[in-house]
Amino acid sequence: MNNDLREQPEERLALQSPPPTLEAQTETPPQQQAGPAPRIRARGAARERTHTGGRAIVVTSGKGGVGKTTVTANLGAALADAGKRVVVVDADVGLRNLDVVMGLENRVRLHSLDVIEERCTLDEALVRDRIRRSLMLLPAAQNRDKDEIDPEDMLDLVDELQEKFDIVLIDCPAGIEQGFRNAVGGAQEAIVVTTPEVSAVRDADRVAGLLPGDMPARLIINRVRPRLVRKGTMMSVDDVLDILRLDLVGVVPDDREVIVATNRGNPVIDISGSPTGAAIRRIAARLLGEDVPIPDLTAHEPWFARMIGSLRPSRPSAKGS
Ligand SMILES: Nc1ncnc2c1ncn2[C@@H]1O[C@H](COP(=O)(O)OP(=O)(O)OP(=O)(O)O)[C@@H](O)[C@H]1O
Ligand SMILES: [Mg+2]
Repeated sequence: MNNDLREQPEERLALQSPPPTLEAQTETPPQQQAGPAPRIRARGAARERTHTGGRAIVVTSGKGGVGKTTVTANLGAALADAGKRVVVVDADVGLRNLDVVMGLENRVRLHSLDVIEERCTLDEALVRDRIRRSLMLLPAAQNRDKDEIDPEDMLDLVDELQEKFDIVLIDCPAGIEQGFRNAVGGAQEAIVVTTPEVSAVRDADRVAGLLPGDMPARLIINRVRPRLVRKGTMMSVDDVLDILRLDLVGVVPDDREVIVATNRGNPVIDISGSPTGAAIRRIAARLLGEDVPIPDLTAHEPWFARMIGSLRPSRPSAKGS
């Protein structure tokens, strides 16, 4: 078996020949050049695919706390609702929290390292979602280190998952260290999550530059606050796209309901009328190839929406993406 994670020269390669619906834009501004970290090798280029299974998509960001785990959990649920067999993989070894966000922490008994070290089978480690039968979680070890996972083992794990599921969503740890390389090395597609903040965008650009050259990479801009954008105190979607030049797959408004739902272990997509939930459902549809337009969050709201918003001053108002 070849090693997919062989180090690459430190040049940034443009994304090459992505499928039409996944097309990522091809250039990154020269001022955003990646540093010395090696680019991860494209998985397909180094490794003969042994099956015709599902898609493996890594959700990554560089900067911590921008919403990777929230997006993974909710997108997983939305894709399951769309009829797909979905597994979400917590690749944040040592700092797992995908199980908490999904409200499954009490059901976790085993984890991916138990599978890798052959203490249990993959089926035994998988935890079924409380609500959706076709959604499963593969938890990460909590008291182990990211470096303890061998990239080859991670690849084998994801390969096996792809045989069983239509979509494998991999929740990547923050940073660009071993945990990032393991998570990305197992995938064939990437979703880069950023918030509209300079530091997050810069890290997202760095991460995008480390992805394999032929890996389709799409962008989610999370926690957008339309009023701040209109006031000019928050970066707009266009500002972010000027820097990142990735294929935008969705814009998710900032919404305090996310925090409330997450604390309860409930998906925000299940909250009726939640603009954030609606935005994530639309992202799921786009990922499945549907042509769903991305509405302009910052378009002026009708007077009644502004009035309702003014009655709830602590809650950021957004209309969804
Ligand atoms: N659209 C949103 N609106 C409001 N809060 C959000 C939104 N998205 C995420 N959050 C909140 O932001 C915090 C960080 O989210 P999350 O844990 O998903 O980030 P992360 O990128 O996975 O972090 P880490 O890098 O530490 O793994 C959480 O409290 C979450 O509830
Ligand atoms: Mg996380």
